[in-house]
Amino acid sequence: MRKTITPNQTERQFKEGEIIVSKTDLKGKILYGNRIFIELSGYKERELLGKPHNIVRHPDMPKVIFKFLWDSIKNGREIVAYVKNLSKDGSYYWVKAFVTPSFNGSGEIVGYHSIRIKPTEQAKLAIGELYKELLEAERQGGIQKSQEKLEQILTQKGASYEEFILSL
Ligand SMILES: Cc1cc2nc3c(=O)[nH]c(=O)nc-3n(C[C@H](O)[C@H](O)[C@H](O)COP(=O)(O)O)c2cc1C
Repeated sequence: MRKTITPNQTERQFKEGEIIVSKTDLKGKILYGNRIFIELSGYKERELLGKPHNIVRHPDMPKVIFKFLWDSIKNGREIVAYVKNLSKDGSYYWVKAFVTPSFNGSGEIVGYHSIRIKPTEQAKLAIGELYKELLEAERQGGIQKSQEKLEQILTQKGASYEEFILSL
């Protein structure tokens, strides 16, 4: 079982130009993580391999974002998402993630991978605000309310999710 980690306010940084990579099976179990992925997570490679990717899930992340992520990749589409991740020591790090399915020669999805880059400070601020609102809605009315909130905010901005993400 996973030990409960108490999140703290220490942000882990990584350099622009560094690319964080992980690969999973169809269920989201980690099959591979590159050196920087392992370093940022604070775990040893052997503690990560075979574990569900939610090992680095941060409680500040709204559920609706992961629902959207899984709905997209299971349907063969790639998705860009900003994700706040939790390290083993309770610190956090923000990433801009490009998550995509991997296909075999017959066009079937055989797994998923994610490459992540450093987000800008401006994007982190905007997304941090959005996620606070979504979490608040989630507390009040679960994922349904949070999804409605996201749709409402995007309508106000006159943008699709993809357009909003691109605008950051
Ligand atoms: C390739 C891939 C990469 C992922 N990377 C992350 C990640 O860095 N952080 C994260 O919290 N979830 C990541 N996820 C999503 C997790 O599988 C999971 O849905 C999420 O952590 C929410 O966990 P929960 O459903 O147990 O709350 C990734 C999923 C895939 C398929």
